[in-house]
Amino acid sequence: MKIFITGASGYIGGTVADSLVKAGHQVTGLARNEASAEKLRKHGMAAVRGELGSHGVVRGAARAAEAVINCANADDPFVTAAILEGLAGSGKILLHTSGTSIVGDKVVGELSPRVVNEDTPYEPMPEKIQRVAIQRTVLAAAAQGVRSAVLCPPLIYGGGRGANPESIQVPTLIRQAVKSGIPRYVGAGENVWSTLHIEDLCQAYLRALEAAPAGSFFYLENGETSFKLIAESIGRLLGGKAAQGWSLDEAISQWGPMAVWFSLGGNSRVSADKARRMLGWKPKGAGLFEEIERGWYKRQLDAGAYAPR
Ligand SMILES: NC(=O)c1ccc[n+]([C@@H]2O[C@H](COP(=O)([O-])OP(=O)(O)OC[C@H]3O[C@@H](n4cnc5c(N)ncnc54)[C@H](OP(=O)(O)O)[C@@H]3O)[C@@H](O)[C@H]2O)c1
Repeated sequence: MKIFITGASGYIGGTVADSLVKAGHQVTGLARNEASAEKLRKHGMAAVRGELGSHGVVRGAARAAEAVINCANADDPFVTAAILEGLAGSGKILLHTSGTSIVGDKVVGELSPRVVNEDTPYEPMPEKIQRVAIQRTVLAAAAQGVRSAVLCPPLIYGGGRGANPESIQVPTLIRQAVKSGIPRYVGAGENVWSTLHIEDLCQAYLRALEAAPAGSFFYLENGETSFKLIAESIGRLLGGKAAQGWSLDEAISQWGPMAVWFSLGGNSRVSADKARRMLGWKPKGAGLFEEIERGWYKRQLDAGAYAPR
């Protein structure tokens, strides 16, 4: 199949694209500069040069493909508009990547009992309204002849197989712990996120390509953990360092407000029962603490990847 993918030099898109190439698909990635184009070619893809906002380029590449996967930026409305224009009336599939921070709360370091599934109504926080509006546009395109589906992953961990092998949350926490010698969480650290191994996420894209109906939305997860437990696991990785909480302002001064409120300090708990049921998806990747203490993150630490810059 001819597949056009955005974000193919990134963590999610790079791993998904690598699987598609290995499965024999003809994959073309969007590359915003020559350096990114070269990374795609090294991973067996063709590159089309353009920004997410290069409307004609993205629309043309979507039109020329038999399937489109958008993995670049869940908050960019321009790229989705161009893709949808290219696919309108074609019946072809678009898999769009969102993220479970859309249902995130702003509870600092405390546990929320709320676990959402696809039928749970929610009102996004102001900071997440654009992401939700974009995914609603993608889902509504089912009425315009696009087999559109949205995949909504939580905290993703493990080593990616593309040009960028690292995710966001766990490496951020490890780097901070290596630099200061103290693994940190926000407040009491009892806040919980759903979690998912990158290889399981990749399998969800492959299953959705086959089986996602037009206009379908899927939360994805394979477990959950509190940030205090993550920090304690990082402490063991670093040879027994004790984890400690940071006040909200200390955390914001280190990581910035968006990261603290929406990826490290709040709750984002989802259920992926629908994806397991409808897509026949069976996540089975290594657990997060296994990857931190004995797997990908241990190997990266030993290779000096988290040394202070
Ligand atoms: N990682 C997670 O845990 C996670 C979880 C849920 C949702 N998400 C969401 O999924 C999306 C992708 O995440 P990721 O971790 O894969 O990010 P990433 O590793 O930073 O990859 C981003 C990709 O998008 C490309 N890109 C960014 N801006 C572009 C532009 N203006 N024009 C063309 N290409 C552009 C990058 O190209 P270059 O190589 O040229 O920079 C790269 O290929 C993000 O919106 C993120 O919020 C991530």
